[in-house]
Amino acid sequence: MTNTPSSPNNGIRRRTFLAGSAAAAGAGLVLSGPARAGGLPSGRPGFPQTGSSVRVLITGDAGTGEAPQYAVTKAARALHAQNPFGLAIGLGDNIYESGPNGPDDKQFEEKFEKPNTGLDFPWVMALGNHDTTAVFPGDGGWLLRGDAEVAYHSRSSRWYMPRRYYSVAVPEQAPVVEFFVLDLNPIAAYIPPFLAPYWEPNGTYMTAQRKWLREAVAASTATWKIACTHHPYINNGPHGSAGGYDGIPIPPINGVLVKEFFEQEIAGRFHFFMSGHDHSLQVFDPTIASKGTRQLVSGAAAKTVEDRSSKEHPALYENFRDRGFMTMDITASGVDLRVFTVDLATGTPTQVFTKSYSG
Ligand SMILES: [Fe+2]
Repeated sequence: MTNTPSSPNNGIRRRTFLAGSAAAAGAGLVLSGPARAGGLPSGRPGFPQTGSSVRVLITGDAGTGEAPQYAVTKAARALHAQNPFGLAIGLGDNIYESGPNGPDDKQFEEKFEKPNTGLDFPWVMALGNHDTTAVFPGDGGWLLRGDAEVAYHSRSSRWYMPRRYYSVAVPEQAPVVEFFVLDLNPIAAYIPPFLAPYWEPNGTYMTAQRKWLREAVAASTATWKIACTHHPYINNGPHGSAGGYDGIPIPPINGVLVKEFFEQEIAGRFHFFMSGHDHSLQVFDPTIASKGTRQLVSGAAAKTVEDRSSKEHPALYENFRDRGFMTMDITASGVDLRVFTVDLATGTPTQVFTKSYSG
């Protein structure tokens, strides 16, 4: 089932034409826009369509291709062997340091396919700031670069990114959960799209994404609704919380528009909001501003940050030292969240936190 209103697609075409850069053309641009996940290319594992439980691996900031990423995926394989995952969520910064050079870039093999060998289920991927690099790694200044990751969707048996933003309902009939994968890079980039009206905060792209999100969430029949982005709302790590990102007092680089987006579009409408960006593991209860929405940060699948929390927000669990990931076992009656750290030498997972949610 695919929903593709025409205006965003036309916008991308127009933007692509106006951009007119040889590099963008070389990126193998594809049409982007709203979509509810639908058919998969043949021969690839599909989303779970049977059973009453959906088991999810939640990773972020994974794409280095280096030893720690391999240790983390080895740990995930150990859990998968015991109790198989139905899908994974990849919360952005999928291809470090500067994103892919087109959909046929060998980095997809080195930083996604090889490390994830044996984790043969759909990987629901979000775009991060490193995936949209223009000049310096992670600047988010070349938003169109992300379209190469959309194009890679049709080249991989695992990588699932049919659009820049989209949703996936699992199972498709009578869904237990629906994941809404968002692209907030246009309002969070270190190099904001000042001279590109299409990408501006109130431009065609973000306006269409907001409209799609509101309508898709309202129409969703899933028991659990989960928003997935790269950029966090509250965050005790060095990148800081939206509105205070990186201690840079310059909007919109400080994430004030992400804060606004969360409070207007996410808070109270989703059961969970999960993000990466900070290379840490954090679990938060709802805040007054989040109106019941719970936030998770799972961005420790390859890198870590300094072992220090700002303690700005009370966390149920936080870890700035270890690599790791989270898992969810989702049924109509509840969600079991687990946090795992990984021993880098052995690739052994250790469960360090668990919490059950009933609604
Ligand atoms: Fe990031």
